[in-house]
Amino acid sequence: MAKTQTTFFCKNCGASSPKWVGKCNSCGEWNTYTEEVIHKDKPEYKKTWKAQSTKSVLKPVLLADVEHGIDFRYELKDLELSRVLGGGIVPGSVILIGGEPGIGKSTLMLQIALQFQNKKVLYISGEESDTQIKMRAERLPFRNNDCYLFTETSTQKIGKALQELQPDIVVIDSIQTLQSELIDSTPGSISQIKETAGDLIRFAKETGTPVFLIGHITKDGALAGPKLLEHMVDTVLQFEGDRNHVYRILLTTKNRFGSTSEIGIYEMHGEGLREVSNPSEILISQRDENLSGIAISATIEGLRPLLIETQALVSTAAYGTPQRNSNGYDAKRLNMLLAILEKKCGLRMGMQDVFINITGGLRVEDPGIDLGVIAAIVSSYQNVPIDNKITFIGEVGLSGEIRAVSRIEQRISEAEKLGFTTVYISKFNKLPKQKSNITIVELSKLEEMLNYLFG
Ligand code: TYD
Ligand code: MG
Repeated sequence: MAKTQTTFFCKNCGASSPKWVGKCNSCGEWNTYTEEVIHKDKPEYKKTWKAQSTKSVLKPVLLADVEHGIDFRYELKDLELSRVLGGGIVPGSVILIGGEPGIGKSTLMLQIALQFQNKKVLYISGEESDTQIKMRAERLPFRNNDCYLFTETSTQKIGKALQELQPDIVVIDSIQTLQSELIDSTPGSISQIKETAGDLIRFAKETGTPVFLIGHITKDGALAGPKLLEHMVDTVLQFEGDRNHVYRILLTTKNRFGSTSEIGIYEMHGEGLREVSNPSEILISQRDENLSGIAISATIEGLRPLLIETQALVSTAAYGTPQRNSNGYDAKRLNMLLAILEKKCGLRMGMQDVFINITGGLRVEDPGIDLGVIAAIVSSYQNVPIDNKITFIGEVGLSGEIRAVSRIEQRISEAEKLGFTTVYISKFNKLPKQKSNITIVELSKLEEMLNYLFG
């Protein structure tokens, strides 16, 4: 029997070392090395992954001489995923989709696989049996007669199946269950993930077949496996949401073929995931009466305007140090806004606990919602509700000035479409002279807004 060979791998960057080291020489992280068993003595599989015809580039070529590629993409029926990917799937691209257990990754990918017509899709699962997948598929309202299942975890066997079947699209559920027979370490270990992902990426690039990889995430929310995996693939998607709520959000954290600012929104129901094409309606809570501490802002996610609701609770701090808690909005920015309110508007925020929540589980980074956040905070502080037909759009600067934001017309027209009657914006936002039915209140300083709202 061959002698067991072990190597140490860095959990962060995937670098290896023959002995344990405290600090990784390649990425500088501490305490990231773990020991894994490897040994390579099964060379008969070596060639399985070679594609039949490889156009190998033998020498460097001039960029100007490279033929124009046609910008061809596989069209998707699912418009949310299509938008997140930058307008369809690029042939040969490898897309990693991560998310918590039970969030709906397998459901989403099976649903995508079944939505293709006249395309051979191979769904490889190392997690569920054929019958389990069939049961799930029967709940979904889509049918694709060219969808194949393969419940296998050995990449060598998968490689053979791919060569025989020659699918148009491949889904792997999940990368952590795959195992290369050339390596002895357990599935999900760093060396296995590096090896199996490397094989699949090579397959995708050589044959031009798009490959979706489902990935697990660790308890602190990062994709499990080496960071290197995220560097290797073309696109990294994150499927998020609260398991107790029906809404799910698909985010891009990396995309070689499109913007990373797009989001897709889904609703989980009895028959799989339904696309939510008008998210503003669901992000604003239904209420009959005006409540204090609630303000609506118009933001932009990618190319899409969205109306979101900020809820604030301000109450006198019971202990010496007031608490600040923020859900969906940057906590540092919240502290900054509170300091501005204290210094420029004379509100005693230093004595108050402040809690902020963006409804719908969304995380918003657009500073254009600052004005709405401030309005919600002051509304709760004064216990005076804001009229629910008002929308706020504006960034707040350090001296309390209200600054212009991008794509103002789109934001205003989204507010108008949803029946809002008044919008508060910065007076520095240049608006085209256009007749609209919505009342536009132009402001330059925070005090002006607070005077309008709370007198
Ligand atoms: P799943 O896709 O298995 O999650 P993941 O692969 O990310 O672990 O999703 C499982 C959850 O989805 C499960 O809690 C049940 C729910 N679900 C529905 O609500 N409706 C459906 O039609 C399906 C298929 C799943
Ligand atoms: Mg799953």
